Amino acid sequence: MDLTHRPRRLRRDGLRGLVRETDLRPTDLIAPVFVDATTDERVPIESMPGHERVPVSQAAERVAEVEATGVESVMVFGIPESKDERGTRAWADDGVVQRALRAITDETDVFAITDVCLCEYTQHGHCGVLTDEAYERWEGTATDGGTTMGDGRPDLTVDNDATLDLLGKVAESHAAAGADMVAPSSATDGMVGAIRGALDGAGYEAVPVMSYAAKYESAFYGPFRDAADGAPAFGDRRHYQMDPANAREALREVDLDVEEGADVLMVKPALPYLDVVRQVRDHTDYPVAAYNVSGEYAMLHAAAEKGWLDLDEVALESLLSIKRAGADLILTYFAERVAERL
Ligand code: PBG
Repeated sequence: MDLTHRPRRLRRDGLRGLVRETDLRPTDLIAPVFVDATTDERVPIESMPGHERVPVSQAAERVAEVEATGVESVMVFGIPESKDERGTRAWADDGVVQRALRAITDETDVFAITDVCLCEYTQHGHCGVLTDEAYERWEGTATDGGTTMGDGRPDLTVDNDATLDLLGKVAESHAAAGADMVAPSSATDGMVGAIRGALDGAGYEAVPVMSYAAKYESAFYGPFRDAADGAPAFGDRRHYQMDPANAREALREVDLDVEEGADVLMVKPALPYLDVVRQVRDHTDYPVAAYNVSGEYAMLHAAAEKGWLDLDEVALESLLSIKRAGADLILTYFAERVAERL
């Protein structure tokens, strides 16, 4: 054969590495950790094999395990000792995340990021305060199975503007406890600006905001809602999280967050939304993060358990693909497992 082009020439050992376009490093990865104020022992998370909720007393130890694999950053999630209507334990000075952060910053060198949201802290499980009407309606119907939230009516859902103040307080309390970066995930309009204002007002202008900018209303969050006990008690999140059908809207969200002062922009989930990761990457010069979420983790584990997939291989390939699509940082439950192989 008279072939001018033989792409296979570049694929031989020795050359393969030299022409590799994407490199995955342990320092690209952020490991989520769950700290639970309701337990004195580590509790395995059934739907996320290998992950546990740890008590506050073991938060630093858990983070040290992450660091031992070469991963240098964690995202801290808290399960509070009690919940209420407004999620007040989310900004308590002695709240679960605040106590864990103090221990973590005392005892480790990790870069500690916190998830700023109210859904783990509110009884109704929504990512903000409800309007009075939504609250009354929920209370009135919860016993017979709840109600569909909002029915598309803004007066029957989360009160966007009343939530902003609370998110500011949460972020400020995290910074006071030692958070190196805060990551608002409530999909509240104006959340980045409100948090930036609260941080600056309290003297934390050096603390960056990583915004969950393009956060989709995704069924892939299922296992997380077990892990962090943050499932909505009624209705769903489609009044505030994005429609999976939309990509251009993600770019508008990104633009707004940049205007409001975001430092890093996140797309979540990752694998089903790699086109969005790529578009955001091409749209902005800011760092892009992608969240390889709980359902993406659980499905690979489930298939591996059946012997249908090689877990180490598919985990590595998944993270490499997220990086190739344009993510600079990757939040993933595979962080430790993959870092150990790099
Ligand atoms: C809190 C939050 C969620 C996740 C991260 N932060 C749950 C949600 O929005 O429903 C999901 C992470 C995952 O599934 O791994 N709002």
